Amino acid sequence: MSHELKQPIAAAMTNAKTCMRWLKRDHPDVDEALEATSRILKDGTRATEIIERLRSLYKKDLPQRELVEVNEIIREMVELLRAEANQYAVSIRNDLAADLPKITADRVQLQQVFMNLILNAIEAMNETGGVLTVKTQLGEDGQLLISVSDTGVGLPKEKTEQIFDAFFTTKPQGSGMGLSITRSIVESHGGRLWATANNGRGATFHFILPTSADIVRVSDTGT
Ligand SMILES: Nc1ncnc2c1ncn2[C@@H]1O[C@H](COP(=O)(O)OP(=O)(O)OP(=O)(O)O)[C@@H](O)[C@H]1O
Ligand SMILES: [Mg+2]
Repeated sequence: MSHELKQPIAAAMTNAKTCMRWLKRDHPDVDEALEATSRILKDGTRATEIIERLRSLYKKDLPQRELVEVNEIIREMVELLRAEANQYAVSIRNDLAADLPKITADRVQLQQVFMNLILNAIEAMNETGGVLTVKTQLGEDGQLLISVSDTGVGLPKEKTEQIFDAFFTTKPQGSGMGLSITRSIVESHGGRLWATANNGRGATFHFILPTSADIVRVSDTGT
């Protein structure tokens, strides 16, 4: 995205120079100068739009915390992305534990987490097709263990940590923002997110989210 931003700024500089040239002539050409100025305005608008887009991706103000059922959010996101998966011959399996405790979380942000992880998984299999599995479990300490795994190309070699950096991408059209945003959302919910290579093909993204059961347990041990 920083590269995307350089482009309109460079264009604005070029147009400003053109404008100056028209004005510095013995007989300034005001019409040409005006045209160059209107191009500068357009370049400015474009740069502003890119910055707004970045800001909305990173927007963390006023998280809307409510009691949510993670399995329900997963089912919704899977339904939403089903057509996309079908298009690339990807079948989606849900392996969701029954009776998970609800958690206090921002619903929209959790949707974004699953959206990013599921889209990445589909993209990893877009040339081969394959199986995408979303799994939920209750951990021993009462936390939620969630994973999204695929049978795709696998993680880029020796880059299992860098993939979470902003702007890291191996895709021609990628922004490289997906995982960085996803990790910051998980962490803002008190959780952790990491990736592992599968034994066979593909990759698995794991994350842990604390539940209130978790917190209750901690206070229980104190009494
Ligand atoms: N399921 C996956 N299998 C293999 N590699 C992956 C997977 N998910 C992510 N990656 C790697 O991590 C990189 C960063 O992912 P991230 O979601 O942050 O950005 P992106 O997918 O490249 O771009 P964007 O999310 O903006 O479309 C990807 O380019 C890819 O190399
Ligand atoms: Mg992505």
